Amino acid sequence: MKWETEVSRLLGITYPIVQGGLAHLAYADLAAAVSNAGGLGQITAMSLETPEQLKEEINKVRSMTDKPFGVNFAIGQHGRPYEHMVTAAVEENVPVISVTGGNPKPVLDRLKGTNIKKLVLVAARRQAEKAEQLGADAVMVVGQEGGGHIGRDDIGTFVLTPQVVDAVSIPVIASGGIGDGRGLMAALSLGAEGIEMGTRFIATKECLHAHENYKKALIEADELGTTVIKRSLNAPARALKNKWTEKILLLEKENPGYEGLREYISGEANKRYIYEGKYEDGFGWAGQIASRIKDVPSVSELFSRMLKEAEDIRSKWC
Ligand SMILES: Cc1cc2nc3c(=O)[nH]c(=O)nc-3n(C[C@H](O)[C@H](O)[C@H](O)COP(=O)(O)O)c2cc1C
Repeated sequence: MKWETEVSRLLGITYPIVQGGLAHLAYADLAAAVSNAGGLGQITAMSLETPEQLKEEINKVRSMTDKPFGVNFAIGQHGRPYEHMVTAAVEENVPVISVTGGNPKPVLDRLKGTNIKKLVLVAARRQAEKAEQLGADAVMVVGQEGGGHIGRDDIGTFVLTPQVVDAVSIPVIASGGIGDGRGLMAALSLGAEGIEMGTRFIATKECLHAHENYKKALIEADELGTTVIKRSLNAPARALKNKWTEKILLLEKENPGYEGLREYISGEANKRYIYEGKYEDGFGWAGQIASRIKDVPSVSELFSRMLKEAEDIRSKWC
């Protein structure tokens, strides 16, 4: 079965499946595995400290795959400068750059005149329209089911995707709550030209940085197993429910502001959970699709399974 869509053509990939940026988790091993399986793997630039480290990681991906891959920039991290990191990716002439978490204009402007494909991850229709005006080649749109930072308006993927498809003329990549062939086909039916997945890729063999306990927690989570923290900061984000997130929600009732929450929502608290497996002493981002994750396959096994499910659906329709 042919899987060519506007997104696969744009990105030069076999299947229209993008691995989302995953803070502190998406390094060369995962990115190369996804690209080798026929999707678009990405490394997360802002999990690295210096442009040299980013260039090293880019070269590591290149040593593991000759397929296209992306570098993701979550630029809204409390004013942390990112321009020098974008320059490093441009100097390495990476195939794709994706940006999220703030005004994408400076990054998109920096990429003008290069061959680098520009993706913007948004969580609302108006942001998608803005991304198109600013020169994005495609827009990824994440519904409120998604893991990590989500939109402020609580719109689910099933409503948001067709809304954005109708609002912009660039290709749309649906994200949030997708983890199998059914999700892939549903997204294409909604008018998307591809999908992005985050949570599902954490529970794969090649996500080497995710501790066993994190993967176990994803498998054990049911549909009530995640919660949204940081609403009081106007930056809602979905994480696995545990005592730590309960404490955050309790604190948020008092509107403590960023300083009052800092210790609880810090990168350190995140890393204790995801790297050290301290599952009550920190937090791990995850989407509602965790409830559908039952195993830890290799990325290529995951792709084969998803594509088979999707093809079975397509043959049922014909
Ligand atoms: C652990 C985790 C970390 C994330 N970090 C980033 C990031 O650094 N940059 C980014 O663009 N998106 C990030 N996201 C969002 C994902 O790229 C993707 O949009 C989201 O996971 C899609 O929803 P899903 O989890 O239901 O697949 C993160 C998501 C998770 C679960």
